Amino acid sequence: MKKLTSEELRNKYIEFFKDKGHKQIASASVIPENDPTVLFTTAGMHPLVPYLLGEKHPQGNRLTDFQKCVRTGDIDEVGDNSHCTFFEMLGNWSLGDYFKQEMIPWSYEFLTSEKYLGIDKSQIAVTVFAGNENSPRDTESAKIWEECGIAKEDIYYLPDNWWGPAGTTGPCGPDSEMFIKVKEKCCEACNPSCDCGAFLEIWNDVFMAYNKTADGKFEPLAQRNVDTGMGLERTLCVLNGKKSVYDTDLFEDALKKLEEVTGLTYGSDAGVTKAFRVILDHTRTAVFMIGDQKGIVPSNIDQGYILRRLLRRAIRYARQVNLNDEGLLEIAKTFIQKYENVYPELQQNREKIITEIAKEHQKFSRTLEAGLREFEKVVKKLDGNTIDGTTAFHLFETFGFPIEITQELAKERNLNVDEQGFKDAFAKHQQLSRAGSEQKFACGLADNQEATTNLHTATHLLHAALKKVISPDINQKGSNITAERLRFDFNLPRPCTMEELAEVEQMVNDVIKQNIPVVMQEKSCEQAKQENFIGLFDNKYGETVKTYSIGEFSKEICGGPHAKQTGDLGTFKIVKEQSSGAGVRRIKAILEK
Ligand code: SER
Repeated sequence: MKKLTSEELRNKYIEFFKDKGHKQIASASVIPENDPTVLFTTAGMHPLVPYLLGEKHPQGNRLTDFQKCVRTGDIDEVGDNSHCTFFEMLGNWSLGDYFKQEMIPWSYEFLTSEKYLGIDKSQIAVTVFAGNENSPRDTESAKIWEECGIAKEDIYYLPDNWWGPAGTTGPCGPDSEMFIKVKEKCCEACNPSCDCGAFLEIWNDVFMAYNKTADGKFEPLAQRNVDTGMGLERTLCVLNGKKSVYDTDLFEDALKKLEEVTGLTYGSDAGVTKAFRVILDHTRTAVFMIGDQKGIVPSNIDQGYILRRLLRRAIRYARQVNLNDEGLLEIAKTFIQKYENVYPELQQNREKIITEIAKEHQKFSRTLEAGLREFEKVVKKLDGNTIDGTTAFHLFETFGFPIEITQELAKERNLNVDEQGFKDAFAKHQQLSRAGSEQKFACGLADNQEATTNLHTATHLLHAALKKVISPDINQKGSNITAERLRFDFNLPRPCTMEELAEVEQMVNDVIKQNIPVVMQEKSCEQAKQENFIGLFDNKYGETVKTYSIGEFSKEICGGPHAKQTGDLGTFKIVKEQSSGAGVRRIKAILEK
């Protein structure tokens, strides 16, 4: 067995398959194209699904690559020695071209040849599909393996040898998995599916002959494909005799940096080891998510939420080992350096990666300490062993704790969290704010998370710009904000012209560019009126009112919250202007990062 670096392993794989007539294709984004069934690319075959279903690939019908993959089903397990949220998969495909008769001997050659992995055939075990009502027992693959030189007793028929993509439908078929025998079997019945650790899987050849439909049927595919996947991290571990991926060259520099910055030693103590692994794994994944060709940024929905969860979990563990924001950025930079030659998008998006991680760190570390103190209080006062949903929601809303962090903290104390209660509290809160925001002059805030806060400030800028560009008589008739957009209703007896809209947009963006601080002051209703703040001057606001000014540009009475300065907003864009009843126009606008 050859000791190889990550770079050598990638290169050997690609070289081998190019030699067999394959074209190398670039790694696709970690965000799947047009696939609503999953948030991330979870396997090398994922970007190739249309071609596996019969579409013609521009590069031909023999392809090979290494693909960035993200699997976040087990985020909370990261910290042990096997779970990672990011990994690379080496793969090759036959799109209706070769099948078992070619693929199995190639797999054997790549694994055993001295030029490639140089693994002794006696160290290899393989599994093949045992058969069921959908597809027959795969005696054919077993026979080919045997002809290659794998001993009969190292070939196992298993019922679960079937592979399909992460969504429930799509191309699928029986597979043959390859394992390295790393230690004695635990008992006579032990086989590669046993979790005693005697066998470690490194490669999977899927013989795709079916398409699983939404109603659970297996239709034969018009073309028979091969889809193979070799996990880079896992294979590196096995080849180099390492116990965990954190001991491979992929993590070497980042780990050294982490030890250097914290002054702590990896492996010295279980707590440090776990914290280091969480920081390393999550930071690496965040670097790939933000630095991706379809880069994502932390948010409260979809991929952005997963990214936020990863970063916030990393930040919590960073605090345990006294790693500050600078330190965390050093780790991120080390990963960029390690991977930028292989994934040039990391180099291109270097600044963005660093800025986004820094921003999230700044945001979360502001509330983390207070949130942890609050959590301690909650635990002290707790009657029983379940933290209720309202409390979990409070930790989320006020301190930015994703429910999963609260759950993890609770688990450390042998406590539970009422997750359904959290969801209910969340839903109720949204409904309440929505109802409230429909009222005239209510500030239109669905929640006080970053996106909505920024959109709220943008609403004030829009309001002021409309007055300046179109007419000082324009007033707010309604406002509604979601995490995605703002909606602003105002009085005007005619549609806005294209020119007016362009000028309004330009004016708002100019103010954003000037990065003007948003200043809150409490004033008496009287005083606010004298100083030309806009808003309703009735008893609704009580004696004193909160006022928000953005330089001299915008002055409004409002409950807040708002962005700290206009520079936080990104680019303002009007996406729609329409009628909203007699004499009322409605503008929908968004902020782009
Ligand atoms: N799609 C298969 C897997 O992920 C082989 O590439 O294992």
